[in-house]
Amino acid sequence: MSAKQIEVYSPASIANLGPGFDVFGIALDEIGDTLRVERVPEPGVEVIVKGPEAGSIPTDPDSNSAGAVLQHVLDHYDDNQGFVVEIEKGVPPGKGMGSSGASAAGAAYAAIQLLKLELSDSEAVKLAAQGEAAVAGSPHADNVSASLLGGFVMVGDDYDVVRLEPPMFDIVVVAPDIYYENKTRLARSLLPEKVLLKNAIHNVGSASRMAAAIAMGDVDLFGRSISDKLVEPRRAEMIPGFWKVKQAALDSGALGCSISGGGPSLFAVGGDTARVGKAMAEAFEEAGVASETYLTRPSRLGARAI
Ligand code: HSE
Repeated sequence: MSAKQIEVYSPASIANLGPGFDVFGIALDEIGDTLRVERVPEPGVEVIVKGPEAGSIPTDPDSNSAGAVLQHVLDHYDDNQGFVVEIEKGVPPGKGMGSSGASAAGAAYAAIQLLKLELSDSEAVKLAAQGEAAVAGSPHADNVSASLLGGFVMVGDDYDVVRLEPPMFDIVVVAPDIYYENKTRLARSLLPEKVLLKNAIHNVGSASRMAAAIAMGDVDLFGRSISDKLVEPRRAEMIPGFWKVKQAALDSGALGCSISGGGPSLFAVGGDTARVGKAMAEAFEEAGVASETYLTRPSRLGARAI
């Protein structure tokens, strides 16, 4: 008899990592969601969200990233039963740490296990991306790939995903205490349709060196490759004090600093990350914004049963 329920842990992630908009993602250690997913005889999907910030997360399955994934599974693989999913939020929502992606990836992993679906990595990522489509209006798969597979991921067209085992290094994420309704949609709406060739060349160079840095285990090169001339300048306006916070990170020893995913958090790599994080938090404070600092590292593990 197949299992009726499963408990899954799914890590947070940083998408884009500077130059790799909608392509790069890295899973984060010690920050993640826990999902309990149960198959039930009643059709449909019931979503229950728990945790201090549960109130800000929709439980309507069409607009909840985990609910949308499970509904997609019912629609495409099995419509005779239903799912109940209880999400214990560990990833702060709305901060650019892949909160919806972690829940979506956890739900996809759970459904794959419960229904014994034989999916390739790309098919699993495509399933998880249904959750991002529900909440962000675009099925980008950088966060969900990282949460699902762990490590450093590069996702291309048609969810063709490449995963690399990252070296271990310290990462600091500083999350300002600001909240935007439909933040990812807003952050995406700020982006231009056309970009300058010289800026595209810059990003291709940074992204190529970043992928090489991960493959070679060169943490300094990784830090120096955190540079983005396409997205960051547009999204900076969403984040009070952005340029000063970034400068504070670099002045206090970080090798690179940029926006974490769709923001408003910033992440930095290099130097003493506790010191860097303190300087960033102080710069936010000078801009009149409180913040929360997360000291973390890459997670080589993605979503898994616990
Ligand atoms: N790549 C996405 C973005 C990540 O930056 O819009 C946020 O979901």
